[in-house]
Amino acid sequence: MIASVMMCASVVLLLIGMLAGVVMGMLQDFTLAPAHAHLNLVGGVLLFMFGLYYHLVPAAGRLMLAKVQGWLHIIGAILFPVGIALVTTKGHNFEIAAIVGSLVVIVAVALFTVIVFRTSRA
Ligand code: HEM
Repeated sequence: MIASVMMCASVVLLLIGMLAGVVMGMLQDFTLAPAHAHLNLVGGVLLFMFGLYYHLVPAAGRLMLAKVQGWLHIIGAILFPVGIALVTTKGHNFEIAAIVGSLVVIVAVALFTVIVFRTSRA
């Protein structure tokens, strides 16, 4: 279940990130390139790969920790690029959003590390 939520959220974020890339190219304004990159990589690539792991190793996907990890990663994958976009367009007063977003992503990846160590030999 969490695997499917993560993969669905991931493809939506990837589509948004890629459309933002097209708009950046059309406007020839690359201010949002770092936000675009982090949305695509953290939200599009990592989130999909982690969801795929839960799909391939159902014992991992059934853990309560996996649900916490998946939702945290989804929240972080949105908050982090939004925070980066706010900092690059509106200035350093918005750093807190990028900082909190990055910390949420790090916690989610740390939880994923614990889950992989516990379940990858199953
Ligand atoms: C329709 C698809 C995409 C378009 C049109 C697009 C467009 C762009 C553009 C215009 C830039 C800025 C280039 C510059 O600063 O000179 C950029 C940067 C970047 N893109 Fe994309 N992109 C697409 C998909 C992706 C995907 C799928 C990923 C990763 C999974 C990605 C990762 C990056 C990275 C890492 C950068 C460099 C960011 C930086 O320099 O701060 N892009 N992209």
